[in-house]
Amino acid sequence: MLAPLQEESKPWMAKGENETRDRVREAKDDPSKAVEWYQPTVKSLPAGTVEFFEIYIGIKGEDAIKEHIYTIRDMAWKVLPYPCIGLFRFLDFSIHLSPEYPRVVKRVQEGATLLDLGCCFGQDLRKLAYDAGPDAPTRNLIGTDLEPAFLQLGYELFADRSRFEATFVPGDVFAEDFLAQYRGKVDIVYLGSFLHLFSEPQQRVVVRQLRRLLRPRAGSMVFGRNLGAGKGGPFRMESIGWDLYRHDPVTIADLFQSSYDEAEAIDADADGGGKAKSQWEVTSSLGRYGSANWDDDRRGWQGHETKQMMFTAIRL
Ligand SMILES: C[S@@+](CC[C@H](N)C(=O)[O-])C[C@H]1O[C@@H](n2cnc3c(N)ncnc32)[C@H](O)[C@@H]1O
Repeated sequence: MLAPLQEESKPWMAKGENETRDRVREAKDDPSKAVEWYQPTVKSLPAGTVEFFEIYIGIKGEDAIKEHIYTIRDMAWKVLPYPCIGLFRFLDFSIHLSPEYPRVVKRVQEGATLLDLGCCFGQDLRKLAYDAGPDAPTRNLIGTDLEPAFLQLGYELFADRSRFEATFVPGDVFAEDFLAQYRGKVDIVYLGSFLHLFSEPQQRVVVRQLRRLLRPRAGSMVFGRNLGAGKGGPFRMESIGWDLYRHDPVTIADLFQSSYDEAEAIDADADGGGKAKSQWEVTSSLGRYGSANWDDDRRGWQGHETKQMMFTAIRL
């Protein structure tokens, strides 16, 4: 069991945690947790998650694993109360739900550089490294997030600060110099529950940044999941009061193709890039918005007709 850290040098760490208290009552007593997108506990963990924590971290038994997860999850909730944290969606290890996953694992084994943008704890990079095996060059994995605390909490959650070779870099995707050291060096970008946080014009800026980061060649790829709907567009999630954007298959395809064209026109002179337009093949699917880890009666907060989109964009 990992004891909560209380060092002054780690202000994101919660203080005075009492692991024995009743988590359900605690959530009701704490107004910041009395929301549908904060779930105090998980009923049971999927077998694959238990196996992952037992083998990767070395914590034995579902109960001990759950307590460890609750401790870190509550620290992260204090940083920013995202539904993906409150509802344990990070335990989906969503990267492996993509139809592209087997191909991605193979490419990583062969040395591809993969960036997880908005990686939060870096859970998907850990899953990828685990599945790619001990001989895979995991130093080619990069995780970035606006919140440095999430990156640090990832090391606590996975107890691998001294052994995980991936690089974690705090960064704001909207900063002009975002990951400047990686420009033109990335083969694959994973966007887990990321795009929907931003308006359509902001997403065009995100794609422009991706264009700077990806190798300018066929096979460069972006994939991920985000909120979707039968008809895409701006969407206010009333429960949380957030203005989000849900994609449909047409809007996600248009985002990649037209933003890339736009970015190439803007950047071509500045960075000496070619003016030839790149072609993108974008595939996507819409499914039920949910998670293996959350109580199914926690519904309604996510908004009418909200679906889960999986997408892949590959440069031809
Ligand atoms: C909804 S969470 C998703 C986390 C994770 N990818 C997943 O699938 O569970 C979105 C993440 O994006 C990060 N983020 C938000 N704005 C960002 C920005 N401007 N630049 C980089 N990361 C950002 C947040 O800190 C958060 O960790």
